[in-house]
Amino acid sequence: MVKSDPADVVAGFYDRWANLYANAVRHAPGVGRLRRLTIEEMELDTGATVVDMGCGPGVNFPYLTEYIGQDGRLVGVDIAPEMLKRAARVDPASELVLGDGSRPPIGGEIDAVLATFVVTLFEDPEQVVDAWWSTLAPGGCLAMLNLGPMRGLAGALGNPLLRIGLRLTTPNAGRFDRNLLTVLDERMQAAQHAVEQRADRIVLYDSADGLFRVVVGTKPIHQS
Ligand SMILES: C[S@@+](CC[C@H](N)C(=O)[O-])C[C@H]1O[C@@H](n2cnc3c(N)ncnc32)[C@H](O)[C@@H]1O
Repeated sequence: MVKSDPADVVAGFYDRWANLYANAVRHAPGVGRLRRLTIEEMELDTGATVVDMGCGPGVNFPYLTEYIGQDGRLVGVDIAPEMLKRAARVDPASELVLGDGSRPPIGGEIDAVLATFVVTLFEDPEQVVDAWWSTLAPGGCLAMLNLGPMRGLAGALGNPLLRIGLRLTTPNAGRFDRNLLTVLDERMQAAQHAVEQRADRIVLYDSADGLFRVVVGTKPIHQS
């Protein structure tokens, strides 16, 4: 099994890429629409408390604040200080927490957790989903948007490019002796399965022949 990198290695990697990443994601075609769709499925109430895990430069923040409004509480968690600096510029009213999202450094009851392009970074996605789920209040929701290998002809053409992209954007990618697309797919499926096992309402959909995959699950109000 491939061990996770130490936190300072991961943080250093994302700190170096923060500027480039912040510019690239804002202009990535079609991704804004998927962020919005994912957040719509969270059915957030005005005034809700929502945590954006691995928030990066805060690209989700404008969509989230549209739903939770001025009375809502928006918390961004990230391991990379440079990412959080950029997130602070997007929404100065947000609370930003520097820390490891696999051990959520937040207190209080959380109405919703959002994690976009994050859960597949972890070696054990089920454990991470479990940690996020345990922060949720009854009736709260966890939403994830992730990349996955594409199907069919799109996959034959696009997956080799995706694989190169993964090599470039994975910290210390050389430590993997397996196809990174397989690792990505396994982790995405493990995270989805973990939500399916815990949720009493689930929304699943994908777009672009499976390149973008959305999973939204709601925690039961009454635990059995
Ligand atoms: C691919 S970026 C996604 C950023 C943002 N969620 C988005 O949708 O644009 C992954 C983010 O996860 C953060 N990250 C990686 N490992 C983390 C960890 N263990 N805890 C918290 N954040 C982490 C990185 O610093 C980076 O900002």
